[in-house]
Amino acid sequence: MFLYFLGLVVLFLIFRWIRELPRVSDKGSKYVYITGCDSGFGNLLARHLDKLGFPVIAGCYTEKGEEDLRKACSRNLTTTHLDVTSKESVAKVAAMIKQKVGHHGLWAVVNNAGVAVPSGPCDWHVVDDYKFMVNVNLHGVIAVTLSVLPLIKKAGGRVVNVASVFGRISVTGGPYPVSKFAVEGFNDSLRIGMAPFGVKVLLIEPGFFKTNVTDSKIQIDSVKGLWDRLPQEIKDDYGSDYLDKAIKVTSESLSKMSDGDLMKVVNCMEHAVAAVWPRKRYSPGWDAKFFWLPMSYMPTCIVDYIVLSGAIPVKRQKK
Ligand SMILES: NC(=O)c1ccc[n+]([C@@H]2O[C@H](COP(=O)([O-])OP(=O)(O)OC[C@H]3O[C@@H](n4cnc5c(N)ncnc54)[C@H](OP(=O)(O)O)[C@@H]3O)[C@@H](O)[C@H]2O)c1
Repeated sequence: MFLYFLGLVVLFLIFRWIRELPRVSDKGSKYVYITGCDSGFGNLLARHLDKLGFPVIAGCYTEKGEEDLRKACSRNLTTTHLDVTSKESVAKVAAMIKQKVGHHGLWAVVNNAGVAVPSGPCDWHVVDDYKFMVNVNLHGVIAVTLSVLPLIKKAGGRVVNVASVFGRISVTGGPYPVSKFAVEGFNDSLRIGMAPFGVKVLLIEPGFFKTNVTDSKIQIDSVKGLWDRLPQEIKDDYGSDYLDKAIKVTSESLSKMSDGDLMKVVNCMEHAVAAVWPRKRYSPGWDAKFFWLPMSYMPTCIVDYIVLSGAIPVKRQKK
C-alpha cells in the first residue's frame, strides 16, 4: 500500500516536472514591468529576464539604482524612477509603458517593491508605522497593478505578486505580516476575478533570504529606534534587559536562517513570468517549504506553543 502511494507521488512529480518545462515563445515582444529593481530579488530578476531576451521595464526607487542597472544590462532594458506610494509616479510610469508596448500590451507586472522596517513587537509601534508599511507593501501593489491591468488584459498576460511566508503565518509583530497577509488577500481575489479574461495571477511566498529585508544591521537599528521612543511604562513591562536579548536573537536568527542563494526566488519569479504552465503559488526556500508553510496549517494552539517556547521572556509575565 505504501509503495503504491509512493509510486503515485513519484508519477505526479514527474508529470508536473515535464508540464512545467515549456516556456512561452516570442519573448522579444513580451514586455515585463518589475518594481523595486534597485537591489535584492527585483534587481536580479531584471538582469536575468534581460539576459533571457524579455524587454524589461525596471522601476527603480533611486537614481543610483537606475544607473547601476542600466550599466549591467542590454539596451533592451528600460529603467524608470518609480515610487509605488506616489499616485503621480505610478501614473507616469503606466503612461510611459502604454506608449512603449503599443499593440502588444504588457505581458507581466512583477510587484516586488517592499519594505520590512520598522519591525518589532506590535505595541512598540504607532499607527503611522503600520500606515507607512501598508502604503508601500499593499497599496503600492494595488496601485501598480490597477495602473497597468488594461494593458495586461490586452496581452492575456500575468500579474506576479511578491508576498512572504509571513503572509501565511505571523510569528513576528509589527506591520510586516499585516501588509503581507493583505497582499495574499488581494492576490487571491484578483486571481479569481481575472481568470475569465485569460490573465494569470501568481504569488511568490519566499522564506528568509539574504537581502536588505533581512539585513541584521538594518533590523537591529530599527528595533533600537523603536525601543528608544517607547514610553517608560512599556519599557518596564518588557524589562530593561529585553532590548539586548532582542538584538542578540535578531542577529543570530537572521544570519542562521537567511539563504544566500537569491536565484531560488528569482527562478520562481522567472517561471511565473515565462512558463507556459506557471504555478499559482511558489514557496522558494527550504524554511518556507518545510517549516513555515507546514506550520501555517497547524492548529493555532500548537503554533502558539512552538512560537512562545522560543520567545524572549518579558519582565511582567502574567500566567
Ligand atoms: N528577503 C527576504 O527574506 C524576503 C522574504 C519574503 C518576502 N520578501 C519580499 O521580497 C520583495 C523584495 O525584497 P528584497 O528582499 O529583494 O529586499 P530589497 O533589496 O530591500 O528590495 C526591495 C526593493 O523595493 C524598493 N522600494 C522600497 N520602497 C519603495 C517604494 N516606495 N517605491 C518603489 N520601490 C521601493 C527598494 O528600494 P531601495 O533599495 O532604494 O530602498 C528595493 O529596491 C519585498 O516585497 C519583500 O517583502 C523578501
